[in-house]
Amino acid sequence: MSMRSLWSAVTLILVAVLSLTAAPPDVSAQAREEPPADNVFTGELDVQMGQRVFQQQCGRCHGEDGTGGEGGPDLTNGFRSASTDEGLFKIVREGIPNTQMVGISRRSTDQSAWMVVAYLNSLNDTNDVDLPGNAANGQQLYAGKGNCSGCHMVNGEGGRLGPDLSQVGNRRDPAELVSDLRTPDQDVAPRWWTLRVTRADGTVVQGLRMDEDTFSMRLMDDDEDLWSFSKRDVRSYDRIKTSTMPSVNATLTDAEVDDLVAYLFSLRREEI
Ligand code: HEC
Ligand code: HEC
Repeated sequence: MSMRSLWSAVTLILVAVLSLTAAPPDVSAQAREEPPADNVFTGELDVQMGQRVFQQQCGRCHGEDGTGGEGGPDLTNGFRSASTDEGLFKIVREGIPNTQMVGISRRSTDQSAWMVVAYLNSLNDTNDVDLPGNAANGQQLYAGKGNCSGCHMVNGEGGRLGPDLSQVGNRRDPAELVSDLRTPDQDVAPRWWTLRVTRADGTVVQGLRMDEDTFSMRLMDDDEDLWSFSKRDVRSYDRIKTSTMPSVNATLTDAEVDDLVAYLFSLRREEI
């Protein structure tokens, strides 16, 4: 028996035993369990176990099949708050602070949480989506004519003046990607606003708004240099809430936008 199927078998028994016991088992023993170094709970049996846990603990808010319900969002269209399996695990384990999202029972093991992650991933299997564009052409446009890599990072290469796109296909569906490209000024998150600061001597510094609190602010200029200012010491400052990203409408044809979307949508966490 391989290590992996051994684990699955052990967990199967564990979960079975747990669901049979009426009294809550000792929490402390399990709560401190270390998460495994690598997520090995990705097999078909894990997905099934994860589904069972999901239906018991999550279905009342997210719907039995994960497509969303009264209390929780649809989980079959990628995840806004996690772009890696580790991030997803953390949400499943701990919930999302200050929201209704409570996460898995503290009595459940980390293995169960990984199985739920496997199940959530299986809900997002999007191999079968048929897109009009050609991803290989899109990749060339991305690096060439589209001029995207100056601002965006994919797998560690590119700029930091826009969000990392390594797994953008997990959080944006094709229709959303089209609007990201055509109307970037819509729904710009505060992290991507621009700050324009006029210093006491009248000189102006402008860049992406990295941090801001009552007394200070930090921005990153076009050369990716960081600047910090004390609000008391500057003459004035403005927040510009539009995107620094140019719309592709003026530069790319409809067919090229289709190709680019096919490429971007192919940037996803590896399928299980
Ligand atoms: C009491 C209702 C409730 C329960 C129970 C619940 N959730 Fe949630 N869940 C929510 C809400 C509400 C959100 C959105 C939180 C926010 O505002 O970001 C959410 C968000 C999430 C997200 C992030 C979605 C995204 O797009 O990033 C995941 C993943 C998730 N839930 C998984 C689970 C799993 C797995 C379980 C069971 C272990 C579970 N939830 C149980 C209400 C619930
Ligand atoms: C001058 C810098 C810049 C250039 C050039 C640029 N972007 Fe962006 N992009 C941004 C910024 C900043 C955002 C975040 C604000 C927003 O939503 O528009 C963004 C957002 C996005 C998003 C949404 C990402 C998400 O996580 O929601 C996608 C997709 C995207 N860009 C793709 C592209 C592609 C493809 C190109 C090339 C055709 C490109 N960008 C060119 C700066 C840029």
